[in-house]
Amino acid sequence: MTTTDDLGSRALRIAMIATGRIADRSLAPAIAGSSEVELWSVFSRDLGRARDFAQRHRAAAPDPAFDDLAALLADPDLDAVLIASPDGLHAGQCLEAAKAGKHVLCEKPMATTSADAEKMNAACREAGVKLGIAYHLRWHRGHRILHHKVQAGEFGTLRHLRVQWPILADPSNWRARPEVGQWWGLAAVGTHCIDQIRWMMRPSCGEILRQGAQITRRVHRGPHDETALIHFEFESGATAELCTSVLFDAPRRMEIYGSDGYAICENTLGMQGTGSICTHEGDLPFSIVDPYAEEIEDFSASIREDRNPEVDGEEGLRNIELIERAIASGSP
Ligand SMILES: NC(=O)c1ccc[n+]([C@@H]2O[C@H](COP(=O)([O-])OP(=O)(O)OC[C@H]3O[C@@H](n4cnc5c(N)ncnc54)[C@H](OP(=O)(O)O)[C@@H]3O)[C@@H](O)[C@H]2O)c1
Repeated sequence: MTTTDDLGSRALRIAMIATGRIADRSLAPAIAGSSEVELWSVFSRDLGRARDFAQRHRAAAPDPAFDDLAALLADPDLDAVLIASPDGLHAGQCLEAAKAGKHVLCEKPMATTSADAEKMNAACREAGVKLGIAYHLRWHRGHRILHHKVQAGEFGTLRHLRVQWPILADPSNWRARPEVGQWWGLAAVGTHCIDQIRWMMRPSCGEILRQGAQITRRVHRGPHDETALIHFEFESGATAELCTSVLFDAPRRMEIYGSDGYAICENTLGMQGTGSICTHEGDLPFSIVDPYAEEIEDFSASIREDRNPEVDGEEGLRNIELIERAIASGSP
């Protein structure tokens, strides 16, 4: 297992697990832009795809492409893995990586059951490796400013948060099916909304006391959520609600209401760190940064500084527990 002393001033060597959309378009470019982290090797089900990905993104290991995860993990020069495979594969790949002594940054949601998420936490704890969960919206600069303002009481006492993130999704995608997916809109974007709710509202509103949900599956008639409406009540009496859907595209919106002020975020929920935020005081300026780069650099810093990543496996587990409760209570 790589420690602070092993790293010294060199870059963290990270392997990409899977070569899909998020790995190719967001994670590998974010790694390439960082001096703290370098893409070392790549795992794919297909060796040709691993080679192509490794070449395009300049993986640095002498022999960087693998179609055998155990062989990739056996490399003593590798420090960490970034798991960007379908949700249902995260747990098994994380357990293997932890056993090999590699730190793990795992895409969201961290697993498809809370039982698997607990196993991931236990395995990483026992191996002494870090486990970070990739909720990149924590690194949206406007959201970070808002989080600070909310927690500092600049909107008074927080009363309500509403978040809406619909995506028009293709039912042939793995998320719509049970083999390697467990939830659809809730796994694609709803889990981010839950993370924003927990991040913005805790600790000032206390913990979630009650929740309710409505989950629909009538259009495609598949096994997974199409539209999900979930609402929460916190210990302080504050409330939150979220709407995700795979049935339509519409503006993404987060609204935060306090006793003395409010904020409306338009299209900040997304991949680019963009959008706009206005508050009761007017427009909120923020700089546009690559949220994936900041998320990966925080993970690297957590190893260098021997601390938890901003979003750790326990927080990832809480998120999954809330999704499981919503499905259980809101399904027909
Ligand atoms: N944080 C974010 O903003 C964000 C955004 C999108 C996705 N994600 C998360 O990242 C993960 C990957 O999502 P994605 O959108 O990149 O998915 P994707 O484009 O479908 O790619 C997934 C990759 O996983 C590998 N894979 C292994 N077994 C597979 C199977 N049975 N079916 C399909 N692919 C399989 C494939 O790579 P090989 O062929 O190389 O093995 C595939 O290209 C998910 O957990 C997702 O929730 C996060």
